[in-house]
Amino acid sequence: MNRKVPIGVLLSGSGTNLQAIIDAIEQDRLDAEIRTVFSNRENAYGLTRARNHGISAAVIDHRGFASREDYDRVLVEHLEGQGVELVVLAGFMRLLSPFFIHSFANRIINIHPSLSPAFPGLHGQRQASEYGVRFTGCTVHFVSEGCDEGPIIIQAVVPVLPDDTEETLTQRILVQEHRIYPRAIQLYSEGRLVIEGRKVRVIRGDVGRSNVMVNPPIPGRSETL
Ligand code: GRF
Repeated sequence: MNRKVPIGVLLSGSGTNLQAIIDAIEQDRLDAEIRTVFSNRENAYGLTRARNHGISAAVIDHRGFASREDYDRVLVEHLEGQGVELVVLAGFMRLLSPFFIHSFANRIINIHPSLSPAFPGLHGQRQASEYGVRFTGCTVHFVSEGCDEGPIIIQAVVPVLPDDTEETLTQRILVQEHRIYPRAIQLYSEGRLVIEGRKVRVIRGDVGRSNVMVNPPIPGRSETL
């Protein structure tokens, strides 16, 4: 049996990515255990999703803390107290302090709704739509101190259609987010992600649940990740 990586999911909103992670665990496609779901917003629907599945959910309002680091110290203490190894950002609408990032160095991952490095920051879908690109997508990456720019683990490409609205494009990207985020966590869980400078090398696996095609096939090669 594979080990189950203990994760903490941080979110501020709806939590559809959290749901995809929960579903993957329940369907035995992901060797992870959610130790805590944490939010800075009491009304984040993701908290309800966690409770519906018997997962402990915690809220600490960021207002009332003198500094970002003061807040992050409490958050780090909470995550460490729950035995979290990997921090999974899933729509957590707060910048993390250097203190937080160093506390979980190379153990924080994020999903961003564009093909990084294009369109970092807020509203990646709207930025892509307004720019007029034909393709955009989503990116799972390790978190470094810059915004949405850490080493890339998996990306998925999504076409932008002529009659797309921001909402239809967002939904089409979300379908891919829900596919690649659990897969990236599984690669981490299997110990197959090696950070080499800006790049992430994915160690090939002979057996394992993520032993499936992640990128489009390259003619003449039959690689799986
Ligand atoms: C997603 O678009 C994700 O890419 C971004 O925040 C959003 C979270 O959506 N980081 P949800 O709360 O998981 O539905």
